[in-house]
Amino acid sequence: MTTLRSLLNETGLPKNEARMILAHLLEIHLQLPRSALLTHDGMELSDPFIEEWRLLEQGRLKGEPIAYLIGKRGFHTIELIVGPGVLIPRPETELLVDLGLDELQRILNNQNSLYESECLLTALDLGTGSGAIALAIASSQPKVTVVATDASQAALDIAQQNAMRLKLSDRVSFCLGNWYAALHALGSPSCHFDLILSNPPYIQGDDPHLSEGDLRFEPPGALTDFGSGLTCLTAIIDGALAYLKPGGLLAVEHGFDQSPAVLERLALAGFQGITPHRDLSGHWRVASGRKPI
Ligand SMILES: C[S@@+](CC[C@H](N)C(=O)[O-])C[C@H]1O[C@@H](n2cnc3c(N)ncnc32)[C@H](O)[C@@H]1O
Repeated sequence: MTTLRSLLNETGLPKNEARMILAHLLEIHLQLPRSALLTHDGMELSDPFIEEWRLLEQGRLKGEPIAYLIGKRGFHTIELIVGPGVLIPRPETELLVDLGLDELQRILNNQNSLYESECLLTALDLGTGSGAIALAIASSQPKVTVVATDASQAALDIAQQNAMRLKLSDRVSFCLGNWYAALHALGSPSCHFDLILSNPPYIQGDDPHLSEGDLRFEPPGALTDFGSGLTCLTAIIDGALAYLKPGGLLAVEHGFDQSPAVLERLALAGFQGITPHRDLSGHWRVASGRKPI
């Protein structure tokens, strides 16, 4: 008899990974919660359950990312559909979301209470991928509308599916194109945002990590600029002042060793209040600056 317990005992996968896959199979085959791994560990499993387990187990043993195998990933306060067309959202990027939410709350606190019932805040997420940043922001702050862009139609297709599943399509819109040029699709040549956030591709083109682990399976154009690592960050920083309201905030994620270059670029571009931010591991991974008033 094949049971959850026997599969867990026999597998060559690390136990936490095996449990993630089994929890997913329990949900889709039997509509059971993750806790069934304990409460139903002696239950006999059906052939379709076992066949799919073998398929996913083999995929993982070959190195395929778990998020792609099970088709989803938790991010901030939401769950996102992911697939090989998009970057798998990383926990580090939640720092950018929290920073953005703090900024939006700060603006609301300073606003005249007469306007508080209206949806007044606007944010831009450049290079949205699965929609992670845009949707996490919109999900946690009901008074914001978000524009999310990407150069990849495959990514935008997944992001749009996520917006629909999360019932956020009325406040999050998507545009295809190269950074700010994507905004031309909105029809208005000059739109101004309270907040611009971006986690662009910032890995250097010759970084050996690109051929290791999960990164081997993710779209290269989501990970690297195929150059110094600073090309996309530079384009985003240099273009931001034209799209921010006076006093508006730009915050970008960058590599652990790119903080000095990004802070310098923000200064060169004319930002004020330039601030580096550490991630949970203590690395400088986000930089922000304000458009002068
Ligand atoms: C590091 S991923 C970030 C995805 C998502 N924001 C996240 O944090 O999970 C970078 C994203 O930028 C997009 N991208 C790359 N080059 C771009 C460009 N020139 N214009 C707009 N988006 C671009 C990629 O397709 C990818 O979705």
